[in-house]
Amino acid sequence: MRARLRFLIALTVIVAAGTDAEEVQLDAYTGLKISANWELVRNNCIACHSPKLITQQRGNEAQWLHMIRWMQAKQNLWQFDAETEGKIIAYLASNYPPQADRRRAAIPADLMPPNPYTRPSQEPVDIPGR
Ligand code: HEC
Repeated sequence: MRARLRFLIALTVIVAAGTDAEEVQLDAYTGLKISANWELVRNNCIACHSPKLITQQRGNEAQWLHMIRWMQAKQNLWQFDAETEGKIIAYLASNYPPQADRRRAAIPADLMPPNPYTRPSQEPVDIPGR
């Protein structure tokens, strides 16, 4: 009985170790998942900000492309040739895809408190104590 139990425990440990080995490896420096074309993202995406900004983000292809277009328009991100851009987007969307449980839905406008940062053209805000 004891021997059988020890055998089962050993088997569990071996199976668990085997599962771990199949998990995606992370690059020690950037934390990026090491899979096809990850070097393109390392080479093009960590000059201006922490790679954590990338690894904490999630999106489908359209959403990643939108972020890249925004950085190109506003943050001096350089242009990519179509092939490079396609590979970067594919890497991002498959390794950091949308996850349903990561974000709560946006709060409906009628449940939000009034916005205190209205522009002068809009209604003035009563600041308590003034
Ligand atoms: C030329 C500079 C530059 C490069 C290169 C760059 N980014 Fe950015 N990125 C920025 C700036 C600036 C921000 C805004 C940072 C902040 O809000 O603190 C930003 C923000 C982000 C965000 C957060 C967006 C959000 O909505 O919160 C993500 C994700 C991101 N970058 C991914 C990437 C990826 C992927 C690449 C490579 C394709 C990349 N960045 C390359 C400048 C750059």
